[in-house]
Amino acid sequence: MMTDDQPAPPADLPTHVDLAQDFADSGVAEVLADLDRELVGLAPVKARIRETAALLLVDRARRRLGLATETPTLHMSFTGNPGTGKTTVALKMAALLHRLGYVRKGHLVTVTRDDLVGQYIGHTAPKTKEVLKKAMGGVLFIDEAYYLYRAENERDYGQEAIEILLQVMENNRDDLVVILAGYADRMDRFFASNPGFRSRIAHHIEFPDYSDGELLHISEGMLSRQNYTLDDAARAAMAQYIAARRGQPHFANARSIRNALDRARLRQANRLFGEAKGPLDAAALSTLTEPDIRASRVFAGGLDVDRASRQAAAE
Ligand SMILES: Nc1ncnc2c1ncn2[C@@H]1O[C@H](COP(=O)(O)OP(=O)(O)OP(=O)(O)O)[C@@H](O)[C@H]1O
Ligand SMILES: [Mg+2]
Repeated sequence: MMTDDQPAPPADLPTHVDLAQDFADSGVAEVLADLDRELVGLAPVKARIRETAALLLVDRARRRLGLATETPTLHMSFTGNPGTGKTTVALKMAALLHRLGYVRKGHLVTVTRDDLVGQYIGHTAPKTKEVLKKAMGGVLFIDEAYYLYRAENERDYGQEAIEILLQVMENNRDDLVVILAGYADRMDRFFASNPGFRSRIAHHIEFPDYSDGELLHISEGMLSRQNYTLDDAARAAMAQYIAARRGQPHFANARSIRNALDRARLRQANRLFGEAKGPLDAAALSTLTEPDIRASRVFAGGLDVDRASRQAAAE
């Protein structure tokens, strides 16, 4: 029986939904499959994204049956160390939200404090609003979001950007999703001093560091997408490189691997020029060898972790 505060749904609403069919028709299955295939590891992140997709499919179905009317809060925080895949996953999230109809366009706009906050009085509001205009219909990804807030300076222009963002996160929930990204500890402190942000964010996703094995796997994936491979000795050298690099300053997970491979390809090209007398086949042009990896500065000091930590402390 229907009570007064729960009016009977209009007669033209469907009476059943088929979630499996929705899953297939929406294209969400495809985005999740891409995510699984393209990204090594990240099991907890992938699980959270599947849960979010399920929640949104159910929300959509409930709306169709007249059971829900409010747009769910979709703003998120992505916390983790540099190079752990936050930007890459944000792109997938934008695609997912688009396929489910929560944002019109599904593009990702990535910004940092400098894109939102001006240097002079009166510059911040127009800057922030311009960015928001660009991001409308998609996802606004604010990297190192905590720099917006400077506890030591209460008249900092960042505060103005924060207030505009909070308002839009509330009022334009149906067409803009904001993702705040950065290191976990700093983000915690930021939320503690900015309860307005904390209360508007429904999904907190943590990105773990990659293991050595995962980073090796990531290297091979990055190379094969560019039609390169490691020979056996190069693969062993790469495994050692990863272990050594992790202990050195500015280690940035998969980003460090990407940079290392760029330099290895440069060395390979130089080596090929230096050695080549006759014609080279595809295999020669595609194979990174042990010296291409070993010539890295990361090996120069051996596995001198003490030196690395002294360097880190000096920075
Ligand atoms: N799990 C993964 N599998 C394969 N490649 C990955 C993975 N995670 C990250 N990468 C690659 O590593 C690089 C850095 O990733 P991304 O920019 O997403 O990280 P991030 O957490 O946003 O880092 P930053 O803090 O440096 O912005 C990209 O080239 C990305 O494609
Ligand atoms: Mg990033």
